[in-house]
Amino acid sequence: MDFKVLDHPLVAHKLTCLRDINTKSPTFRDLVDELVTLLAYEATRNVRVRPIAIQTPVAEAAGVALLDPKPLVVPILRAGLGMLSGMTRLMPTAEVGFVGMVRDEETLEPFTYAERLPHDLSGRQCFVLDPMLATGGSLSGCVEFLAERGANDVTCICLLAAPEGVENFRALVDDLNITTTLVVAAVDERLNEHGYIVPGLGDAGDRLYGIV
Ligand code: PRP
Ligand code: URA
Repeated sequence: MDFKVLDHPLVAHKLTCLRDINTKSPTFRDLVDELVTLLAYEATRNVRVRPIAIQTPVAEAAGVALLDPKPLVVPILRAGLGMLSGMTRLMPTAEVGFVGMVRDEETLEPFTYAERLPHDLSGRQCFVLDPMLATGGSLSGCVEFLAERGANDVTCICLLAAPEGVENFRALVDDLNITTTLVVAAVDERLNEHGYIVPGLGDAGDRLYGIV
């Protein structure tokens, strides 16, 4: 697995604002949006392109266009939805699939309640969005869905990760034997006894959308 932690002062600054307990939902949503666009710049470094020729007002020029099949962006509902517009802003022609998962707060196991993905993902670059990589159960479950449909090139974008989650996720993708990249804004200290990232930012879904 290729693992990248973005080391950038703007990312660190926006992450600090995001973590702050006094940051309210509207600002939290804007910060997530901005952070994802910064992370997406790094996460799309290997997006496949093909050469094309165009005409500028001055001369012919060689350029590139995104290669078909179009990349697939997969936010893990609910909190991953807050990352979608930041990603599609950078790749507007990408298509979007959905996986809905919620963690059982006792067992910390993810339960999948929705899935809307193309049946055949062979040859398709996939970009999974999930703000929190805690135990890694949700992200691993989602990547397993993609691999079952033939995806073999998956990039995951998370805002915060716990070391335990990164290692669990690494073990899964090593077993799946697919090309995987994980891009995160920061790796925090640890998980607490409730499976929350410390210091983290709390419950990302609740901070984006309110408590349900
Ligand atoms: C949160 C978060 C991740 C998951 C991470 O979702 O958005 O998907 O927990 O935890 P894990 O790495 O231990 O699986 P949650 O289950 O709270 O659902 P929500 O997005 O609907 O709030
Ligand atoms: N899910 C969250 O939203 N936050 C955490 O710290 C862990 C899982």
